[in-house]
Amino acid sequence: MKLIDGNTIATEIITELTEQVANLPGRKPCVTFVRVGEDPASVSYVRKKQRTAEAIGIESRLQLFDDSVSREELKSFIQSLNDDDSVDGILIQAPLPKHLIETEVFNWVRPDKDVDGFNTVNIGKLCQDDPEGFVACTPAGIVELLARTGVETNGRHVVVLGRSLIVGKPAALLMLRKGPLADATVTVCHSRTRDLPAITRQADILIAAIGRAHFVTADMVKEGATVIDVGINRITDDSRKSGYRLVGDVDFEAIANKTSAITPVPGGVGPMTVAMLMKNTVKARMAHGV
Ligand code: GUN
Repeated sequence: MKLIDGNTIATEIITELTEQVANLPGRKPCVTFVRVGEDPASVSYVRKKQRTAEAIGIESRLQLFDDSVSREELKSFIQSLNDDDSVDGILIQAPLPKHLIETEVFNWVRPDKDVDGFNTVNIGKLCQDDPEGFVACTPAGIVELLARTGVETNGRHVVVLGRSLIVGKPAALLMLRKGPLADATVTVCHSRTRDLPAITRQADILIAAIGRAHFVTADMVKEGATVIDVGINRITDDSRKSGYRLVGDVDFEAIANKTSAITPVPGGVGPMTVAMLMKNTVKARMAHGV
């Protein structure tokens, strides 16, 4: 079993980007984060993204809104970012409060600043295999992990567990693309799928993105499969100062020895999401010119 070390691979990418940013003529790339409310996981993700941006030499700005922000106020702020030539990337941290419709908010972001790739235009470009668009950071990170670990996808059966806009759907679309690091046979499973274990057992590569702690058990995995665990679930742990610890969607202890390669949680997909956001921001900066 090979442990796929997301921290090391993300650090490699960050080093590459730091060099690229140092050599960019003109102003530094700039990303603006928009966070609504105080969801603890969102607070921690945005902080991590900001720190990584600063380490690379990317300027990062943060705009906070109260949970009660109106649709109009948020929309007009995003429009001001769209019109601001000093901003290359805009990231609206999900989840948003219930009175806001996430897909509507994501579509307020101008497509060439949509470094999260959640905008209708960028999802469309992904469907069309158009490399100009932005691909959602977590799925893009998964492809990068597989590529840099030397896991073949061509002609192999990839089973994606979960159909979210943020991970499941774009991950399936990426694996379906023609060309290198893709060309897989893809099955997408979800909460209504019947006899799930019979399908997941066929996976050469299993991508678990459902958000339920230890959902994937040993009987659901084929001997020698590659397992990518996207879940970041907080479970109570009184032995920790924080009172919780992070576990994946996969029962790592039970499965690891059955796999040919597996990502840990934390330290697998998580750091890759942040690295790919930085990559998208640099791409946006380059597209915006000097
Ligand atoms: N919430 C969970 N994952 C993500 C992500 O990749 N981007 C944003 N904006 N919000 C998220």
